[in-house]
Amino acid sequence: MTIGKSQNSFYDNKKNLAEWVNRIPESEIRRLLRFTPQYYFAGGKPGVIPLRIFHTIIQEIIEEEKQFLTDNNPNYLVNYNYGATEGNKTLRKVLANRLKQRDGLKNISENDVVLTNGSQQALYGLCDIILSPGDIILTTRPTYLGFLQPAEKLKGQILTIPSDFEGIIPEFIPLAFRACKKNGHKPKMLYLVPYSDNPKGTTLPERRKRAIIDYAFEYDFLLVEDMAYKEIQFDSTNLSPMKRFDPDNERIVYISTTTKEAAAFRIGYSIFPSSIRDEIIKAKGIYDLCSSEWVQAILTKYYSGFIDQALPSIRNEYQQRRDAMLQACNENLEGKFSNPTGGFFVWFESANSTFNSATFIEIALKNDISYVPGKAFFPLKGLDLHEDGKLFASVPQLNTMRLGYSLLPPELIYKGIGHLGNLLKNLK
Ligand SMILES: Cc1ncc(COP(=O)(O)O)c(C=O)c1O
Repeated sequence: MTIGKSQNSFYDNKKNLAEWVNRIPESEIRRLLRFTPQYYFAGGKPGVIPLRIFHTIIQEIIEEEKQFLTDNNPNYLVNYNYGATEGNKTLRKVLANRLKQRDGLKNISENDVVLTNGSQQALYGLCDIILSPGDIILTTRPTYLGFLQPAEKLKGQILTIPSDFEGIIPEFIPLAFRACKKNGHKPKMLYLVPYSDNPKGTTLPERRKRAIIDYAFEYDFLLVEDMAYKEIQFDSTNLSPMKRFDPDNERIVYISTTTKEAAAFRIGYSIFPSSIRDEIIKAKGIYDLCSSEWVQAILTKYYSGFIDQALPSIRNEYQQRRDAMLQACNENLEGKFSNPTGGFFVWFESANSTFNSATFIEIALKNDISYVPGKAFFPLKGLDLHEDGKLFASVPQLNTMRLGYSLLPPELIYKGIGHLGNLLKNLK
């Protein structure tokens, strides 16, 4: 045997890699992150970070930890070591209290909260422990790409339910169950973002949420409520999560994250029904053993002493960005767009039904503008439930785009959407 550089490496041939690698393309949002145009409306990168507060917190921690440099204090080994897979107990307690007081989840304790590296890991873990190939998952049309990708990687069968500018239309849920039953199937779960949806920016009215909860119990499915934008709310900061109506913690998965109001410290915090909590922790142990104790120490201080002082100005700044984007959309874009009351995104549907935002993105990038083509938020190969209750192969709505207002200051947003409007007008 000679040792040297082989001409054809095993891994040069993509066919030798795992089956999903060739089936699932790179996320469009991740791809667009490589471009840094002046008018960046693509990924939902937080653009308001309470840096002074984080500076204070980090300094406090460094001061407190100084003692460990001289003493042989046993706490040293706790604070700077591998931690519990489900997350640091003190941070879980602080977040459980916030969930109780702010979100009205009265029966929650630290034992119910599971911490992950971003809520993306919770979404992946959930799909990983629930889905076997071919299992049916219901979601909105369009839906969050970060949920679609894990579900598709694990070969779930995505079935999309129509949504309007108030979010998912619950009356279609029984129709979806009926359509699946005809083929001998039963959907396992429904995923949605009730507050300030990604990508659509919609917030579900109370009556729709109540109808969905009733269906979850009646049709026996797991309801996944993704609350990523719950702290970034402009009109009313009172929350009414669906999880409130699951007092025995058996039916609703509540997913949330620190990343929107504390970007850089990527910790997700979720409540899984007791019956699946241990399985999620087992899955996280396989992915990364545990999250960083240092990051969790920073977040413990942020959520116990600083967040409510930081949030008003964070919300206010995002609200001004939302206002600038809506004004610019009104003045420059022909079509329909959502009217978000929180979160980071406006959804735009061009009045020109033959417009293709997935090809137009290349022109936009050359003109220093980015957005996410709507196509990214539709399944690669799923099923769409139509209004007549029949199922058809999924078709993306190509004349749509997601416009993010989180990163740029209002003046640049206003200017950039003006440029985008001009480019679109010149297409005609
Ligand atoms: C609806 C939704 N869920 C989950 C996530 C993932 O968040 P994280 O950054 O905590 O992984 C995002 C991020 O954009 C999101 O918009």
